[in-house]
Amino acid sequence: MNFQLTEEQILIQKTARAFADNELAPGVVERDDKKIWPREGVKQMGELGFMGMMVDPKWDGGGMDSISYTIAMEEISRVEASSGVVMSVNNSLVCYLLEKFGSDFLKEKYLKPLASGKKLGAFSLSEPQSGSDASNMRTIAKKEGDHYIISGTKNWVTNGINSNYVILFAVTEKGIGYKGVSCFIVEKGWDGLETGKPENKLGIRASDTCELYFDNVKVPVENLIGKEGEGFTIALVILDAGRIGIASQAIGIAQASLNASVSYSRERIQFGKPIAKNQANQFKIADMAMEIEAARLLIRQAAWKKDQKQNYGHIASMAKVYASEVAMRASTQCVQIHGGFGYMRESGIERLMRDAKITQIYEGTSEIQRIVIARELLKK
Ligand code: CAA
Repeated sequence: MNFQLTEEQILIQKTARAFADNELAPGVVERDDKKIWPREGVKQMGELGFMGMMVDPKWDGGGMDSISYTIAMEEISRVEASSGVVMSVNNSLVCYLLEKFGSDFLKEKYLKPLASGKKLGAFSLSEPQSGSDASNMRTIAKKEGDHYIISGTKNWVTNGINSNYVILFAVTEKGIGYKGVSCFIVEKGWDGLETGKPENKLGIRASDTCELYFDNVKVPVENLIGKEGEGFTIALVILDAGRIGIASQAIGIAQASLNASVSYSRERIQFGKPIAKNQANQFKIADMAMEIEAARLLIRQAAWKKDQKQNYGHIASMAKVYASEVAMRASTQCVQIHGGFGYMRESGIERLMRDAKITQIYEGTSEIQRIVIARELLKK
C-alpha cells in the first residue's frame, strides 16, 4: 500500500491550489453575497483541463485518474465551493455519463466541447415530487418517428442556467417503475425548453440552481443515451461516481475551516494570550484535523477502487456521508472559534458553514447514503 501521491498528482494539486488562491479567492465573498456566477473562474478551469479531467484525451479530456480529480476538487472547493459544484457536475455527472454510456456520435458532438470546457453541462433528475425517490418521475418522453417529444418539470438543477447541454431523465414507458426511465441529452435553446429563475439558496450561492420546464421539446432519437429503460440504472451508476466529487467538495470546505481556525486562533488575543493557548480550541482543531484525514483517506480509497474497476458505490457513499458530516462539524467549530467576527458576512467564515450544509443533501442525502451502505452490507 502506498499513500504517496504521484508526481502528476502533486503537480495537479499545486496547479489547483495556486489557481484557487490567486484566481478564485478575489471576490469570493461578494460573489456569494450577490449570487454572482464565477464566469471567469469556470472559463479558466476549462483552460486548465479541470472540466473533463478523467475523460480520455481522444474525447478532448485530461486522461487523469480519479484521485487527481478528488485532489483538484478539494483545492477548488477549499476556496469556493460554488466553483467546486460547477466543476463536479460537469466532470462526474455529465462527462463521465457521456463517456460511459454515450454513442460515439454523442461523444463527438457533446463530450468533446464539454470535456474541454468550451461548453457546460447540467444533470436533470429530480422533480417536485421525486427527490430521494428518484425513479418516481413524471417527465414523459413519447417517441414520434425519429424524435421523442418531452414534457415535464425538473427541479434543483445545478448549472441549469449557465449550461449549454442538459442530461435529462424521462419516462418512456409508464407503469413499470424505474424500468420505464430513459436518459437523454438535450440542448438549451431548443423550442419548448424554458429555464426558471435562479433559486435563492442558503449556501453555494455563486452557483446557479433552477427549475427547467419542458413543453413538448423535440429531441432527436440519436440523443437517447443507452437504450430505452436503462436511464435509472445509468443515473445510479453515475451518482456513485458523483458522490466522490461531492465528498471532495466537502473536504475542501472542512480544510478551509481548519486552516482559518489555526491561523485565527494563533492571532486572536484574549485574556492576554492567543486563544490557541486554550485547550478548548486546541481540541476543536485536533478533532477537525483527525476527521479530515480520515475522510480524505475514504475519498481516495473510493476513487482508487473506481479506477481499479472494483465495486465502489458503497465506499463512495461512506466517503460522501462522512466527509459531508465532517465539513458540517468543522465549519461550525470554525465559526465558534472566530466568535462574533466569524458570524459576520464579510468575514467569509460563516459561508463555510452555509456551503457545507448542501453536501449532506445533494447527490443523495446522508440518509440515502446510509441506505446504499446498509444494502450492500446486508445483501445475500
Ligand atoms: N448501480 C447500478 N444499479 C443499481 C445501483 C447502483 N449503484 N443501485 C441500485 N441499482 C439497481 C438495483 O439493483 C435495481 O435493479 P434490479 O431490480 O435489476 O435489481 C434498480 O437499480 C433499482 O434499484 P432500487 O430498487 O434499489 O431503487 P430504489 O428506488 O429503491 O432507489 C436509491 C435506490 C439508492 C434510494 C436511489 O433512488 C437514490 O440514490 N436516490 C437518491 C437520488 C439522488 O442521489 N439524487 C441526486 C439528484 S442529482 C444532484 O443532486 C446533482 C446536483 O445538483 C449537484
